[in-house]
Amino acid sequence: MTRVVVLDPQHPDPARIREVATVLRDGGLVAFPTETVYGLGAHALNATAVARIFEAKGRPPTDPMIVHLASIDQIDLVAQAVTPAARELAAAFWPGALTLILEKRPIVPGAVTAGLPTVGIRVPSHPIAHALLAAADVPVAAPSANRFSHPSPTRAEHVLSDLDGLVDIVIDGGATPIGVESTILDLTVTPPLVRRPGSVSLEAIRDIVPDVRSVSVTVDRARAQPAPGQLLRHYAPRATLTLYVGKVDQVAERMARDVRTAAASGLRAGVLAPEEDLLALAPRLAALGASGRVVTMRCGSRGDREEAARELFRSLRALDAEAVDVILASAPDGEGINAAILDRLTRAAEGRVVRT
Ligand code: TXA
Ligand code: MG
Repeated sequence: MTRVVVLDPQHPDPARIREVATVLRDGGLVAFPTETVYGLGAHALNATAVARIFEAKGRPPTDPMIVHLASIDQIDLVAQAVTPAARELAAAFWPGALTLILEKRPIVPGAVTAGLPTVGIRVPSHPIAHALLAAADVPVAAPSANRFSHPSPTRAEHVLSDLDGLVDIVIDGGATPIGVESTILDLTVTPPLVRRPGSVSLEAIRDIVPDVRSVSVTVDRARAQPAPGQLLRHYAPRATLTLYVGKVDQVAERMARDVRTAAASGLRAGVLAPEEDLLALAPRLAALGASGRVVTMRCGSRGDREEAARELFRSLRALDAEAVDVILASAPDGEGINAAILDRLTRAAEGRVVRT
């Protein structure tokens, strides 16, 4: 049985937090909100508890997990050879949406790191995550709280729809404020490498680590990935997704034609796009007589990419619930959070990207 505990995201009740923290300390599985997405937490130094995460998620044991800490002061508990640059980054971005990959200490079970000699560490800023980690007073291994390869959960209902009955507690703290997973920065390679873009931008990291590089999902897709969680097929809805990247009018023009083609072959189509794109698409669909044959889902606007990030996984899940066969998704090119959105959609598209 999964228990749902509803908590105020700003001021979680300390007594309830203590209760949930005890379950976590004793080896239970607890899903909780962070500022990025919901995580599925277990006592990171308890290999049996960690094994339960893999079981619940249907996650391959080759996929390493992020260890969450209450405070920057605990970094030396799980990592060693922590460089001055790592400490400077931690001081600048923690608590927050940056995961640092460092050399692990032997105390961290191999199950957490998929046998790697390194460990991903993050100090989340969400008041519920922070309070829970502080009360549990142990490092907490937590992947995103979705079934393996499903879109990450940004609300408690997403966690329940994937994991009800498989975890002990789900804390419902409302929608997560960022909506895409943390930036992953690998400091164990030279030069340092951003393995997953997130809300902490490459540009912001460059201020501290001038030689930082970033993996490009499209360039690297054919190569074996060192971190299997970065496989191209990820964040995937059930429907076949194609990503359109370009200016509003060109994207709308191309999408309208492709929607008509899909409808003509009997496929149910969904469009996931910023507000501006939907406005440009509507008259074109009408002109082609294809208006009634598509489900449209707004995903933020071109002018507000933070909103688009917050809405991304929810809108992918909502389109899946509409039982569409194909999804045509649009996103503009760009840096910062835009790079994170493009990365997730490119993975969901498994490389089907149309540049107009
Ligand atoms: O925002 C987030 O990072 C969320 C919240 C819950 O903190 N967590 C999250 O975890 O997205 P997950 O497991 O879905 O993604 C973590 C990814 C792994 O798939 C893997 O690619 C990478 O982090 N990772 C973790 N440890 C690593 C390591 N030692 N070396 C390389 N990559 C690692
Ligand atoms: Mg994940």
